[in-house]
Amino acid sequence: MMENTKKLRRIGVLTSGGDAPGMNAAIRAVVRTCIGNGIIPVGIRRGYNGLINSDVQILDARAVNGITSRGGTMLYTARCDEFRTPQGVERAAQNCRYLGIDGIVCIGGDGTFRGARELAHAGVATVGIPGTIDNDIACTHYSIGFDTAANTAIEAIDRLADTMQSHERTSVVEVMGHNAGHLALYVGLAVGAAVIITPEKPCDFENDVLERLRESHYNGRHHFIVIVAEGSGNTQQIAQRIKEETGQETRVTTLGHVQRGGSPTARDRTMASRMGHYAVEQLMAGKSNIVVCYRNSQLMDLPIDEALEMQRGLDEYMYQVARDISI
Ligand code: F6P
Repeated sequence: MMENTKKLRRIGVLTSGGDAPGMNAAIRAVVRTCIGNGIIPVGIRRGYNGLINSDVQILDARAVNGITSRGGTMLYTARCDEFRTPQGVERAAQNCRYLGIDGIVCIGGDGTFRGARELAHAGVATVGIPGTIDNDIACTHYSIGFDTAANTAIEAIDRLADTMQSHERTSVVEVMGHNAGHLALYVGLAVGAAVIITPEKPCDFENDVLERLRESHYNGRHHFIVIVAEGSGNTQQIAQRIKEETGQETRVTTLGHVQRGGSPTARDRTMASRMGHYAVEQLMAGKSNIVVCYRNSQLMDLPIDEALEMQRGLDEYMYQVARDISI
């Protein structure tokens, strides 16, 4: 037990934006760290909507029993338009004061952190935890859900590769990423994709696609995996063009929301548990308006303003490795 220096009565926890496997483990960690420190944990349902509508519930240790292995979020998640207005934020802050919620752990992506910043400005202490399969939050090298989503995609693509090999076809696979190519690159490297197309890198079709397929062909390959990150262009059109220019039969698979579900991997479970615990400790130490980050193999925190200003480019080295060894 750590000294509750800030004398917090209740700490709320919410999940907002797209769900991500591992969010439940983070909720569990928040709840149990609170209880261990004499703080009452409050579950806030449906993201910031729950704060505006007072859709809240006290959670005891048993309420979060067995949820670590489950994907999704037991608190539900949503995007909340009303919370984007000053009136919505004030209403939420007023409800927190009335309900005696002194701090909130907000799990989600950049949009969630913007909400947490507004709440902090309105007088409610907040800590953000990165949770998105996109892994596109610049301040942290790791976001909850990324590892599970990547492994889900890899398993699916390995299956596709079997049938592509049998028919000597090209599989054009669209992975999620909301205009970010981190998941596509990671997955592409792991499955040995011949081509990886991401929104961050302009794609010169002749050099980046056709020449790579040609080179692989000369190396004796007759089936190919092409990974397209969501937001990099029209996947159907990319497949059609490959078919027209190479004569190869192509098949398109959009992995979609399959990547967002499923039982979290060990990495997501443990990272989420650590981040949830750490977030409560920071609130107890009197901190607010911060995001929990995983950098250089350790947890730390950064002011939300600073975190939101950071830019995250694609990992150039990983991109180069993927290109170099997929011949
Ligand atoms: O941010 C996570 C994410 O899965 C993105 O990769 C994707 O673009 C988006 O959410 C899909 O959102 P929704 O579930 O609202 O369709």
